[in-house]
Amino acid sequence: MSTFDIRPVTSNEQRAATNTVRAALLTGAANDEVLAEERETAGEGDFLAAWEGDRCVGHVGAFHFDTTVPGGDRLSTAGVTDVGVLPTHTRRGLLTALIEQLLGNARDAGTVLASLRASESPIYGRFGFGLAGDTVAAVINPRRARPLRFERQPGTMRLLEIGEVLTTVPPIYEESRWRVGTVNRNEWLWKFRLRTASEPNKERHGKGVYVAVHTNTEGEDDGYVHYETEWDEGYACNIGGKGRVLDLAGTTPDVELALWEYIIGIDLVESWQAEPRPVDDPIRLAMYDVRAYETRQRLDEQWVRLLDVDAALSKRSYGPTDREVIIEVTDPMFAENNGNWTISESGAQRTDRAADLGVDIATVSATYMGGVGWTDLAASGLLPNASARAVADLDFLFAIRPAPFSGTMF
Ligand SMILES: CC(C)(COP(=O)(O)OP(=O)(O)OC[C@H]1O[C@@H](n2cnc3c(N)ncnc32)[C@H](O)[C@@H]1OP(=O)(O)O)[C@@H](O)C(=O)NCCC(=O)NCCS
Repeated sequence: MSTFDIRPVTSNEQRAATNTVRAALLTGAANDEVLAEERETAGEGDFLAAWEGDRCVGHVGAFHFDTTVPGGDRLSTAGVTDVGVLPTHTRRGLLTALIEQLLGNARDAGTVLASLRASESPIYGRFGFGLAGDTVAAVINPRRARPLRFERQPGTMRLLEIGEVLTTVPPIYEESRWRVGTVNRNEWLWKFRLRTASEPNKERHGKGVYVAVHTNTEGEDDGYVHYETEWDEGYACNIGGKGRVLDLAGTTPDVELALWEYIIGIDLVESWQAEPRPVDDPIRLAMYDVRAYETRQRLDEQWVRLLDVDAALSKRSYGPTDREVIIEVTDPMFAENNGNWTISESGAQRTDRAADLGVDIATVSATYMGGVGWTDLAASGLLPNASARAVADLDFLFAIRPAPFSGTMF
C-alpha cells in the first residue's frame, strides 16, 4: 500500500477522479457537461482519491445527508458514493484503505450513520455495513386495479408546468419523509432527478415526463408523483401506452393513495412500471385485484453502518414493550463502538452489566432501521449462540411498521 497516496480530491484533480470512478463503473470518460455537474456536487461531501504517481487509481466519496430513523429523528449520515478502483488495480487493498479513511473522517466529524446503495452486495459487509432495507420493482395493470377499494380523497390534482417543477417538488418531499430510511435531497440531487421533467422535450412523439401535484382542501400542496409515459400514435390500435412511476411521495399515506388513484386513472396507459417501491407498498392491498400489482424483483436497497453506536442507538425509539435486552457490540474498525448497551422502551444506555447477546457491527447496523428482524437473522444462522428469548425480545424492541424505504439513489 505504501506506493499509493490517499488524499482529498482538489478541483484540479476532479477530471481524473471522475474518470477513474467511471472506468470502474464501466462508463467512458466524462465530457465537459458531466464534469460541470460533478463540480456542483464537490462542496456537498468529502471525496478521497488514491494516486499512484500522477495516476488516479481509486476513489471514494461521502455526501452529507440526514436519514429519518425510528422515532422520527433525522441523523447525520455519510452517504457513501462514487466508489471505484481501476480494473488494473483491484484486490490490492485500495478500497479498504480508502473507505477506512473516509469513514474515520466522517466519524471524527460527528457523523452518526453511513449509508450506501451497493453495485454488488458482497462488497460492504466487511466494512461494517448491514443490509437494512429492501425495495421492490412492480408492474401494475391499471384496468385490473380498478375500482380502488378506498374512499376518494377530497383534494385536487394538477400537472406542473416545467418551470414550476424544481421549486414545487422539493418542499413537498421534505414534508413527506414519514418513512424511516428517507434521506434529504440536496439541490444538485433534485436537478439531476428532475432534469427531464423541467426541460421541454425535443421529440415529436415518444416519452413524456410529468410531475402531478395533489393539493388538499386548505389549498396546500401535500403530495406529488413524478412519472414518464410513452405512446406510439402510429400503432394506437394495437399497442397500449406504457408508464413509469419514478417517484411518489405524500405527507400522509392517504395522500399517496390519492396520487396512485390519479396514476391508475390515466387514459391510454395499459401498464405501469413502478420502481423503486417499498416492500409494503400500500396501494397493492387497495386494488380491486391484488394481482394487478405484480412484484417483479426484490432488491437490497439501503446498506447502513452505525459510525457512532452510542449516538445511533440512543437516538432511535424502541418498543412499545416491557422487554429489556443487553447487547454487546463488537466493531473492529472503531474501538469506541465496542461495548454493552441496555435496550428498552425508554431508550439505549451504555452499561457494564453482562450482555444477553453479542452482535457484530454489520448485524446491529442491519437491524437499526427496524426493517430487518432479529428473528429473521437468527433463522438465517447469522446470530449463532443467541438465545431465542433475547432474539424475540429484540424484535419487539426494534421492529417498525411501515417498512423502512429510502427511494433515493446517490
Ligand atoms: C468494488 C471495488 C471498489 C473493490 O475495490 P478493491 O480495491 O479491489 O477492494 P479491496 O482490494 O480493498 O478488497 C477488500 C476485500 O473485499 C473483497 N472484494 C472487493 N470487491 C469485491 C466484490 N466486488 N465482490 C466480492 N468481494 C469483493 C476483496 O476480495 C477483499 O477481500 P479479502 O480482504 O478477503 O481479500 C472495485 O472492485 C471496483 O471498483 N469495482 C467496480 C465498481 C464498483 O462496483 N464500485 C462499487 C460501487 S457501489
